[in-house]
Amino acid sequence: MSRSAHPAGPRHADVLPEGHYTAPPADLNTLDPKVWARTVARDEQGVATIGGLRVTDLAEEFGTPAYFLDETDFRARCRAWAEAFGTEADVFYAGKAFLSRAIVRWLHEEGLNLDVCSGGELATALSAGMPAERIAFHGNNKSEDEIRRAVEVGVGRIVLDSFQEIVRVAHIAQSLGKRQRVQIRVTVGVEAHTHEFIATAHEDQKFGIALAGGQAAEAVRRALKLDGLELIGIHSHIGSQIFDMAGFEVSARRVVQLLAEVRDEHGVELPEIDLGGGLGIAYTSEDDPREPHEIAKALGEIVTRECEAAGLRTPRISVEPGRAIVGPTAFTLYRVGTIKPLDGLRTYVSVDGGMSDNIRTALYDAEYSVSLVSRVSDAEPMLSRVVGKHCESGDIVVRDAFLPADLAPGDLIAVPATGAYCRSMASNYNHALRPPVVAVRDGEARVIVRRETEEDLLRLDVG
Ligand SMILES: Cc1ncc(COP(=O)(O)O)c(C=O)c1O
Repeated sequence: MSRSAHPAGPRHADVLPEGHYTAPPADLNTLDPKVWARTVARDEQGVATIGGLRVTDLAEEFGTPAYFLDETDFRARCRAWAEAFGTEADVFYAGKAFLSRAIVRWLHEEGLNLDVCSGGELATALSAGMPAERIAFHGNNKSEDEIRRAVEVGVGRIVLDSFQEIVRVAHIAQSLGKRQRVQIRVTVGVEAHTHEFIATAHEDQKFGIALAGGQAAEAVRRALKLDGLELIGIHSHIGSQIFDMAGFEVSARRVVQLLAEVRDEHGVELPEIDLGGGLGIAYTSEDDPREPHEIAKALGEIVTRECEAAGLRTPRISVEPGRAIVGPTAFTLYRVGTIKPLDGLRTYVSVDGGMSDNIRTALYDAEYSVSLVSRVSDAEPMLSRVVGKHCESGDIVVRDAFLPADLAPGDLIAVPATGAYCRSMASNYNHALRPPVVAVRDGEARVIVRRETEEDLLRLDVG
Protein backbone atom coordinates (compact mmCIF):
# COMPACT_ATOMS: atom_id res chain seq x y z
CA MET A 1 0.00 0.00 0.00
CA SER A 2 1.36 3.41 -0.85
CA ARG A 3 1.70 6.29 1.55
CA SER A 4 -0.39 9.25 0.61
CA ALA A 5 -0.42 12.72 2.08
CA HIS A 6 -3.67 13.60 3.79
CA PRO A 7 -4.88 16.75 5.47
CA ALA A 8 -4.15 16.51 9.17
CA GLY A 9 -7.11 16.17 11.55
CA PRO A 10 -7.65 18.05 14.81
CA ARG A 11 -4.58 17.95 17.01
CA HIS A 12 -4.50 20.48 19.77
CA ALA A 13 -5.97 20.02 23.21
CA ASP A 14 -7.75 23.39 23.03
CA VAL A 15 -9.76 22.37 19.96
CA LEU A 16 -10.50 18.81 20.97
CA PRO A 17 -14.12 17.65 21.16
CA GLU A 18 -15.59 15.81 24.12
CA GLY A 19 -14.64 12.17 24.32
CA HIS A 20 -13.09 9.30 26.23
CA TYR A 21 -9.58 10.61 26.47
CA THR A 22 -7.19 12.57 28.57
CA ALA A 23 -4.39 14.79 27.28
CA PRO A 24 -2.11 13.28 24.64
CA PRO A 25 0.79 11.32 26.15
CA ALA A 26 4.14 13.10 26.30
CA ASP A 27 5.66 10.62 23.87
CA LEU A 28 3.53 8.67 21.41
CA ASN A 29 6.37 6.25 20.67
CA THR A 30 6.63 4.84 24.19
CA LEU A 31 5.08 1.41 24.60
CA ASP A 32 3.89 1.52 28.20
CA PRO A 33 4.79 -1.82 29.87
CA LYS A 34 1.60 -1.53 31.88
CA VAL A 35 -0.53 -2.27 28.82
CA TRP A 36 1.84 -4.17 26.55
CA ALA A 37 2.88 -7.81 26.91
CA ARG A 38 6.08 -8.41 28.82
CA THR A 39 8.47 -8.98 25.91
CA VAL A 40 7.23 -6.09 23.75
CA ALA A 41 9.84 -3.41 23.01
CA ARG A 42 11.11 -1.29 20.12
CA ASP A 43 14.28 -2.19 18.23
CA GLU A 44 16.98 0.28 17.16
CA GLN A 45 15.00 1.28 14.07
CA GLY A 46 11.93 1.97 16.18
CA VAL A 47 9.99 -1.08 15.02
CA ALA A 48 8.03 -2.78 17.79
CA THR A 49 9.07 -6.32 18.65
CA ILE A 50 7.56 -9.17 20.62
CA GLY A 51 9.79 -11.98 21.85
CA GLY A 52 12.53 -10.35 19.78
CA LEU A 53 10.54 -10.53 16.50
CA ARG A 54 9.71 -7.39 14.54
CA VAL A 55 6.03 -6.69 13.89
CA THR A 56 6.86 -5.79 10.31
CA ASP A 57 8.26 -9.30 9.74
CA LEU A 58 5.37 -10.87 11.64
CA ALA A 59 2.84 -8.99 9.49
CA GLU A 60 4.67 -10.20 6.39
CA GLU A 61 4.62 -13.80 7.53
CA PHE A 62 1.20 -14.09 9.18
CA GLY A 63 -0.79 -11.25 7.64
CA THR A 64 -3.05 -8.76 9.37
CA PRO A 65 -5.21 -8.49 11.32
CA ALA A 66 -3.67 -11.00 13.71
CA TYR A 67 -3.38 -11.52 17.44
CA PHE A 68 0.17 -11.97 18.73
CA LEU A 69 0.35 -13.69 22.10
CA ASP A 70 3.40 -13.58 24.34
CA GLU A 71 3.80 -17.13 25.63
CA THR A 72 6.52 -16.11 28.07
CA ASP A 73 4.19 -13.55 29.61
CA PHE A 74 1.24 -15.96 29.71
CA ARG A 75 3.29 -18.60 31.51
CA ALA A 76 4.75 -16.04 33.93
CA ARG A 77 1.26 -14.82 34.82
CA CYS A 78 0.05 -18.40 35.39
CA ARG A 79 2.99 -18.98 37.71
CA ALA A 80 2.41 -15.70 39.55
CA TRP A 81 -1.22 -16.66 40.23
CA ALA A 82 -0.34 -20.22 41.23
CA GLU A 83 2.43 -19.05 43.57
CA ALA A 84 0.33 -16.26 45.08
CA PHE A 85 -2.50 -18.62 46.01
CA GLY A 86 -0.17 -21.49 47.01
CA THR A 87 -1.20 -25.01 47.93
CA GLU A 88 -3.99 -23.87 50.24
CA ALA A 89 -6.11 -22.48 47.39
CA ASP A 90 -6.94 -23.22 43.76
CA VAL A 91 -6.67 -21.05 40.67
CA PHE A 92 -8.99 -21.90 37.78
CA TYR A 93 -8.20 -20.08 34.54
CA ALA A 94 -11.51 -18.92 33.01
CA GLY A 95 -11.39 -20.43 29.53
CA LYS A 96 -14.06 -18.06 28.19
CA ALA A 97 -11.42 -15.32 28.08
CA PHE A 98 -9.50 -17.27 25.43
CA LEU A 99 -9.07 -21.00 24.99
CA SER A 100 -7.12 -23.12 22.57
CA ARG A 101 -5.28 -26.39 22.86
CA ALA A 102 -1.92 -24.68 23.30
CA ILE A 103 -3.39 -22.60 26.12
CA VAL A 104 -4.68 -25.76 27.80
CA ARG A 105 -1.25 -27.38 27.59
CA TRP A 106 0.45 -24.30 29.06
CA LEU A 107 -2.08 -24.17 31.90
CA HIS A 108 -1.50 -27.84 32.62
CA GLU A 109 2.27 -27.41 32.57
CA GLU A 110 2.07 -24.38 34.86
CA GLY A 111 -0.18 -26.19 37.35
CA LEU A 112 -3.42 -24.24 36.88
CA ASN A 113 -6.95 -25.61 36.80
CA LEU A 114 -9.52 -24.68 34.17
CA ASP A 115 -13.04 -23.31 34.24
CA VAL A 116 -15.13 -24.15 31.15
CA CYS A 117 -18.69 -23.14 30.40
CA SER A 118 -19.75 -25.13 27.35
CA GLY A 119 -19.38 -28.51 25.73
CA GLY A 120 -17.02 -26.94 23.20
CA GLU A 121 -14.69 -25.58 25.88
CA LEU A 122 -14.81 -28.93 27.68
CA ALA A 123 -13.95 -30.77 24.46
CA THR A 124 -11.02 -28.42 23.83
CA ALA A 125 -9.73 -28.93 27.38
CA LEU A 126 -9.98 -32.71 27.22
CA SER A 127 -8.51 -32.94 23.74
CA ALA A 128 -5.39 -31.13 24.94
CA GLY A 129 -4.93 -33.38 27.95
CA MET A 130 -6.29 -31.34 30.87
CA PRO A 131 -7.14 -33.91 33.56
CA ALA A 132 -10.93 -33.86 34.06
CA GLU A 133 -10.63 -33.56 37.82
CA ARG A 134 -8.94 -30.18 37.32
CA ILE A 135 -11.89 -28.82 35.33
CA ALA A 136 -14.85 -26.85 36.71
CA PHE A 137 -17.98 -26.79 34.56
CA HIS A 138 -20.05 -23.58 34.56
CA GLY A 139 -23.06 -22.16 32.75
CA ASN A 140 -26.59 -21.02 33.49
CA ASN A 141 -28.25 -23.42 31.05
CA LYS A 142 -26.09 -26.48 30.50
CA SER A 143 -27.71 -29.00 28.22
CA GLU A 144 -28.35 -32.54 29.39
CA ASP A 145 -25.72 -33.75 26.93
CA GLU A 146 -23.18 -31.33 28.33
CA ILE A 147 -23.95 -32.39 31.88
CA ARG A 148 -23.78 -36.08 30.99
CA ARG A 149 -20.41 -35.66 29.28
CA ALA A 150 -19.04 -33.65 32.21
CA VAL A 151 -20.17 -36.28 34.73
CA GLU A 152 -18.98 -39.18 32.57
CA VAL A 153 -15.48 -37.81 32.13
CA GLY A 154 -15.34 -36.93 35.83
CA VAL A 155 -14.96 -33.14 35.99
CA GLY A 156 -13.77 -31.93 39.38
CA ARG A 157 -16.88 -29.85 39.94
CA ILE A 158 -20.05 -28.67 38.29
CA VAL A 159 -21.23 -25.25 39.38
CA LEU A 160 -25.02 -25.43 39.78
CA ASP A 161 -26.85 -22.35 38.63
CA SER A 162 -30.58 -23.02 39.14
CA PHE A 163 -33.05 -25.19 41.01
CA GLN A 164 -33.74 -27.17 37.84
CA GLU A 165 -30.07 -27.87 37.41
CA ILE A 166 -29.72 -29.25 40.93
CA VAL A 167 -32.21 -31.96 40.06
CA ARG A 168 -30.91 -32.44 36.52
CA VAL A 169 -27.28 -32.99 37.54
CA ALA A 170 -28.28 -35.25 40.47
CA HIS A 171 -30.46 -37.33 38.19
CA ILE A 172 -27.82 -37.71 35.48
CA ALA A 173 -25.08 -38.52 38.01
CA GLN A 174 -27.27 -41.14 39.65
CA SER A 175 -28.18 -42.70 36.31
CA LEU A 176 -24.46 -43.05 35.63
CA GLY A 177 -23.87 -44.53 39.07
CA LYS A 178 -21.82 -41.51 40.15
CA ARG A 179 -21.79 -38.88 42.86
CA GLN A 180 -20.85 -35.53 41.28
CA ARG A 181 -18.93 -32.89 43.24
CA VAL A 182 -20.84 -29.61 42.91
CA GLN A 183 -20.85 -26.02 44.09
CA ILE A 184 -23.92 -23.79 44.12
CA ARG A 185 -23.51 -20.41 42.45
CA VAL A 186 -25.19 -17.72 44.49
CA THR A 187 -25.90 -14.09 43.71
CA VAL A 188 -24.77 -12.09 46.67
CA GLY A 189 -26.37 -8.78 45.73
CA VAL A 190 -23.08 -7.19 44.75
CA GLU A 191 -22.20 -5.94 41.33
CA ALA A 192 -18.68 -4.73 40.75
CA HIS A 193 -17.14 -3.10 37.73
CA THR A 194 -13.80 -1.37 37.67
CA HIS A 195 -13.59 1.06 40.59
CA GLU A 196 -17.19 0.80 41.66
CA PHE A 197 -19.33 -1.77 43.28
CA ILE A 198 -22.97 -1.67 44.10
CA ALA A 199 -24.49 -3.69 46.90
CA THR A 200 -28.23 -4.21 46.47
CA ALA A 201 -30.82 -6.54 47.88
CA HIS A 202 -31.30 -8.35 44.60
CA GLU A 203 -29.30 -8.74 41.48
CA ASP A 204 -31.35 -8.37 38.36
CA GLN A 205 -29.42 -10.85 36.19
CA LYS A 206 -29.54 -14.39 34.90
CA PHE A 207 -26.75 -16.09 36.86
CA GLY A 208 -26.93 -17.96 40.13
CA ILE A 209 -29.43 -18.34 42.93
CA ALA A 210 -30.11 -15.35 45.15
CA LEU A 211 -29.03 -15.30 48.77
CA ALA A 212 -31.86 -12.85 49.28
CA GLY A 213 -35.16 -14.35 50.39
CA GLY A 214 -33.47 -17.57 51.53
CA GLN A 215 -33.33 -19.02 48.01
CA ALA A 216 -29.69 -20.06 48.20
CA ALA A 217 -30.31 -21.70 51.60
CA GLU A 218 -33.17 -23.64 50.01
CA ALA A 219 -30.89 -24.69 47.14
CA VAL A 220 -28.38 -26.04 49.66
CA ARG A 221 -31.19 -27.87 51.49
CA ARG A 222 -32.25 -29.58 48.25
CA ALA A 223 -28.72 -30.39 47.07
CA LEU A 224 -27.78 -31.98 50.39
CA LYS A 225 -30.73 -34.38 50.10
CA LEU A 226 -29.79 -35.75 46.68
CA ASP A 227 -27.64 -38.89 46.48
CA GLY A 228 -26.18 -37.99 43.10
CA LEU A 229 -24.54 -34.80 44.46
CA GLU A 230 -21.64 -34.11 46.78
CA LEU A 231 -22.03 -30.46 47.72
CA ILE A 232 -18.51 -29.12 48.26
CA GLY A 233 -19.13 -25.40 48.44
CA ILE A 234 -20.58 -22.08 47.39
CA HIS A 235 -19.59 -20.02 44.37
CA SER A 236 -19.91 -16.28 43.76
CA HIS A 237 -18.78 -14.15 40.82
CA ILE A 238 -19.49 -10.45 41.15
CA GLY A 239 -18.44 -8.72 37.94
CA SER A 240 -15.62 -7.82 35.63
CA GLN A 241 -12.58 -5.55 35.34
CA ILE A 242 -12.60 -4.99 39.12
CA PHE A 243 -9.83 -3.04 40.87
CA ASP A 244 -11.50 -2.39 44.20
CA MET A 245 -11.52 -5.30 46.69
CA ALA A 246 -14.55 -3.88 48.53
CA GLY A 247 -16.98 -5.84 46.35
CA PHE A 248 -15.14 -9.09 47.15
CA GLU A 249 -15.27 -8.21 50.82
CA VAL A 250 -19.06 -7.89 50.81
CA SER A 251 -19.38 -11.01 48.67
CA ALA A 252 -17.14 -13.09 50.97
CA ARG A 253 -19.00 -11.85 54.04
CA ARG A 254 -22.35 -12.89 52.56
CA VAL A 255 -21.08 -16.27 51.36
CA VAL A 256 -19.55 -17.01 54.78
CA GLN A 257 -22.84 -16.03 56.39
CA LEU A 258 -24.51 -18.70 54.25
CA LEU A 259 -21.88 -21.26 55.28
CA ALA A 260 -22.67 -20.46 58.92
CA GLU A 261 -26.40 -20.89 58.29
CA VAL A 262 -25.73 -24.24 56.60
CA ARG A 263 -23.67 -25.38 59.58
CA ASP A 264 -26.39 -24.30 62.01
CA GLU A 265 -29.18 -25.98 60.05
CA HIS A 266 -27.47 -29.13 58.76
CA GLY A 267 -24.44 -29.58 61.00
CA VAL A 268 -22.26 -29.51 57.85
CA GLU A 269 -19.31 -27.20 57.22
CA LEU A 270 -18.96 -26.87 53.44
CA PRO A 271 -15.24 -27.13 52.70
CA GLU A 272 -14.85 -24.73 49.74
CA ILE A 273 -15.76 -21.30 48.48
CA ASP A 274 -15.07 -19.87 45.06
CA LEU A 275 -14.96 -16.10 44.69
CA GLY A 276 -15.00 -16.10 40.89
CA GLY A 277 -12.97 -13.97 38.51
CA GLY A 278 -13.27 -10.41 37.34
CA LEU A 279 -9.92 -8.97 38.41
CA GLY A 280 -9.03 -5.94 36.34
CA ILE A 281 -6.15 -5.31 33.95
CA ALA A 282 -4.64 -2.17 32.42
CA TYR A 283 -6.27 -1.41 29.07
CA THR A 284 -4.85 2.11 29.15
CA SER A 285 -2.06 3.77 31.11
CA GLU A 286 -4.66 5.20 33.52
CA ASP A 287 -5.55 1.73 34.88
CA ASP A 288 -3.72 0.40 37.95
CA PRO A 289 -4.39 -3.30 38.42
CA ARG A 290 -3.38 -5.25 41.51
CA GLU A 291 -0.77 -7.98 41.48
CA PRO A 292 -1.87 -11.60 42.13
CA HIS A 293 -0.05 -11.73 45.49
CA GLU A 294 -1.94 -8.63 46.70
CA ILE A 295 -5.23 -10.14 45.57
CA ALA A 296 -4.46 -13.50 47.21
CA LYS A 297 -3.50 -11.77 50.46
CA ALA A 298 -6.58 -9.56 50.49
CA LEU A 299 -9.00 -12.40 49.71
CA GLY A 300 -7.32 -14.74 52.22
CA GLU A 301 -7.58 -12.12 54.96
CA ILE A 302 -11.21 -11.30 54.21
CA VAL A 303 -12.31 -14.96 54.24
CA THR A 304 -10.26 -15.85 57.35
CA ARG A 305 -11.62 -12.86 59.25
CA GLU A 306 -15.22 -13.57 58.31
CA CYS A 307 -14.88 -17.27 59.16
CA GLU A 308 -13.30 -16.52 62.54
CA ALA A 309 -16.16 -14.16 63.31
CA ALA A 310 -18.66 -16.87 62.36
CA GLY A 311 -16.78 -19.61 64.23
CA LEU A 312 -16.14 -21.58 61.04
CA ARG A 313 -13.04 -23.39 59.83
CA THR A 314 -11.59 -21.40 56.92
CA PRO A 315 -12.73 -23.14 53.72
CA ARG A 316 -10.44 -23.79 50.77
CA ILE A 317 -10.63 -20.75 48.49
CA SER A 318 -10.66 -20.81 44.72
CA VAL A 319 -10.65 -18.02 42.14
CA GLU A 320 -11.26 -17.89 38.39
CA PRO A 321 -9.19 -15.20 36.70
CA GLY A 322 -9.45 -15.12 32.91
CA ARG A 323 -8.75 -11.60 31.73
CA ALA A 324 -6.07 -11.04 34.39
CA ILE A 325 -4.02 -13.91 32.98
CA VAL A 326 -4.46 -13.74 29.22
CA GLY A 327 -5.65 -10.16 28.67
CA PRO A 328 -2.32 -8.34 28.88
CA THR A 329 -0.38 -11.02 27.01
CA ALA A 330 -1.60 -10.25 23.48
CA PHE A 331 -2.02 -7.39 21.04
CA THR A 332 -3.91 -7.14 17.77
CA LEU A 333 -1.88 -6.01 14.79
CA TYR A 334 -3.73 -4.10 12.07
CA ARG A 335 -2.75 -2.40 8.86
CA VAL A 336 -4.08 1.09 8.28
CA GLY A 337 -6.20 1.31 5.14
CA THR A 338 -7.82 4.75 5.00
CA ILE A 339 -7.56 7.95 7.01
CA LYS A 340 -10.36 10.55 7.18
CA PRO A 341 -9.85 13.75 9.17
CA LEU A 342 -13.19 15.25 10.25
CA ASP A 343 -12.87 18.94 10.87
CA GLY A 344 -13.30 19.96 14.50
CA LEU A 345 -13.90 16.34 15.52
CA ARG A 346 -11.34 13.62 15.08
CA THR A 347 -9.57 11.57 12.46
CA TYR A 348 -11.08 8.23 11.50
CA VAL A 349 -8.41 5.61 10.95
CA SER A 350 -9.78 2.49 9.25
CA VAL A 351 -8.01 -0.80 9.77
CA ASP A 352 -8.34 -4.21 8.15
CA GLY A 353 -10.27 -5.77 11.09
CA GLY A 354 -12.82 -4.30 13.46
CA MET A 355 -15.79 -5.40 15.53
CA SER A 356 -15.42 -8.97 14.22
CA ASP A 357 -12.07 -9.32 16.03
CA ASN A 358 -12.80 -7.00 18.96
CA ILE A 359 -16.45 -6.56 19.87
CA ARG A 360 -15.73 -5.21 23.35
CA THR A 361 -15.72 -1.55 22.39
CA ALA A 362 -19.11 -1.81 20.71
CA LEU A 363 -20.53 -4.14 23.35
CA TYR A 364 -19.24 -2.61 26.57
CA ASP A 365 -17.90 0.76 25.55
CA ALA A 366 -14.52 -0.72 26.48
CA GLU A 367 -11.48 1.52 26.37
CA TYR A 368 -8.27 0.59 24.61
CA SER A 369 -5.07 2.29 23.63
CA VAL A 370 -3.31 2.08 20.28
CA SER A 371 0.18 2.76 18.95
CA LEU A 372 1.94 3.08 15.65
CA VAL A 373 4.28 0.08 15.75
CA SER A 374 5.92 -0.25 12.32
CA ARG A 375 8.00 2.89 12.94
CA VAL A 376 8.42 5.78 15.32
CA SER A 377 7.25 9.28 14.53
CA ASP A 378 7.97 12.80 15.76
CA ALA A 379 4.75 14.17 14.31
CA GLU A 380 2.32 15.86 16.66
CA PRO A 381 -0.51 13.89 18.25
CA MET A 382 -3.71 13.54 16.27
CA LEU A 383 -6.95 12.65 18.03
CA SER A 384 -8.03 9.48 16.28
CA ARG A 385 -10.81 6.95 16.27
CA VAL A 386 -9.72 3.52 15.12
CA VAL A 387 -12.54 1.87 13.21
CA GLY A 388 -12.96 -1.38 11.37
CA LYS A 389 -14.14 -2.33 7.89
CA HIS A 390 -17.62 -3.55 8.80
CA CYS A 391 -20.97 -2.20 7.63
CA GLU A 392 -21.83 -0.70 10.97
CA SER A 393 -21.12 2.80 12.24
CA GLY A 394 -20.60 1.36 15.73
CA ASP A 395 -17.68 -0.65 14.35
CA ILE A 396 -15.15 1.04 16.62
CA VAL A 397 -12.00 -0.59 17.94
CA VAL A 398 -10.52 2.34 19.87
CA ARG A 399 -12.93 5.17 20.55
CA ASP A 400 -10.45 7.96 21.20
CA ALA A 401 -6.68 7.79 21.15
CA PHE A 402 -3.77 9.83 19.89
CA LEU A 403 -1.78 8.65 16.90
CA PRO A 404 0.91 10.64 15.13
CA ALA A 405 -0.40 13.09 12.54
CA ASP A 406 1.83 11.62 9.81
CA LEU A 407 0.05 8.26 10.07
CA ALA A 408 -0.40 6.88 6.59
CA PRO A 409 -2.10 3.99 4.80
CA GLY A 410 0.14 0.95 5.03
CA ASP A 411 1.37 1.73 8.55
CA LEU A 412 0.96 -0.98 11.15
CA ILE A 413 -0.83 -0.05 14.33
CA ALA A 414 -1.45 -2.32 17.30
CA VAL A 415 -4.00 -2.43 20.09
CA PRO A 416 -2.56 -3.92 23.30
CA ALA A 417 -4.33 -5.96 25.99
CA THR A 418 -6.53 -7.85 23.54
CA GLY A 419 -5.77 -11.34 24.87
CA ALA A 420 -9.12 -11.69 26.65
CA TYR A 421 -12.60 -11.70 25.12
CA CYS A 422 -11.42 -10.67 21.65
CA ARG A 423 -10.61 -13.87 19.72
CA SER A 424 -13.02 -15.76 21.97
CA MET A 425 -15.85 -13.37 21.04
CA ALA A 426 -14.78 -12.95 17.41
CA SER A 427 -17.46 -13.30 14.75
CA ASN A 428 -17.82 -13.74 11.02
CA TYR A 429 -19.87 -10.58 10.60
CA ASN A 430 -19.77 -9.54 6.93
CA HIS A 431 -18.20 -12.97 6.42
CA ALA A 432 -14.96 -11.69 7.87
CA LEU A 433 -12.36 -14.39 8.30
CA ARG A 434 -11.42 -14.62 11.95
CA PRO A 435 -7.75 -13.73 12.50
CA PRO A 436 -5.10 -16.17 13.66
CA VAL A 437 -3.54 -16.29 17.09
CA VAL A 438 0.23 -16.44 16.83
CA ALA A 439 2.21 -17.41 19.92
CA VAL A 440 5.65 -15.87 20.24
CA ARG A 441 8.38 -17.15 22.51
CA ASP A 442 12.15 -16.57 22.51
CA GLY A 443 12.40 -15.44 18.91
CA GLU A 444 10.02 -18.04 17.54
CA ALA A 445 6.48 -17.49 16.32
CA ARG A 446 3.96 -20.22 15.68
CA VAL A 447 0.29 -20.20 14.81
CA ILE A 448 -1.81 -21.72 17.60
CA VAL A 449 -5.17 -20.86 16.01
CA ARG A 450 -4.97 -20.45 12.27
CA ARG A 451 -6.66 -17.77 10.20
CA GLU A 452 -10.04 -18.76 8.84
CA THR A 453 -10.31 -19.27 5.13
CA GLU A 454 -13.15 -18.82 2.68
CA GLU A 455 -13.28 -22.64 2.52
CA ASP A 456 -13.95 -22.67 6.29
CA LEU A 457 -16.86 -20.31 5.77
CA LEU A 458 -18.28 -22.15 2.81
CA ARG A 459 -17.94 -25.57 4.47
CA LEU A 460 -20.74 -24.65 6.87
CA ASP A 461 -22.93 -23.28 4.13
CA VAL A 462 -24.55 -26.48 2.91
CA GLY A 463 -27.66 -25.00 1.23
C1 LIG B 1 -18.20 -17.47 36.72
C2 LIG B 1 -17.12 -16.71 36.10
N1 LIG B 1 -15.85 -16.94 36.50
C3 LIG B 1 -14.81 -16.28 35.96
C4 LIG B 1 -15.00 -15.34 34.97
C5 LIG B 1 -13.81 -14.66 34.39
O1 LIG B 1 -13.84 -13.30 34.53
P1 LIG B 1 -12.53 -12.45 34.15
O2 LIG B 1 -12.07 -12.90 32.83
O3 LIG B 1 -13.01 -11.04 34.16
O4 LIG B 1 -11.51 -12.74 35.23
C6 LIG B 1 -16.31 -15.06 34.53
C7 LIG B 1 -16.53 -14.04 33.49
O5 LIG B 1 -17.57 -13.72 33.05
C8 LIG B 1 -17.39 -15.76 35.11
O6 LIG B 1 -18.64 -15.54 34.71
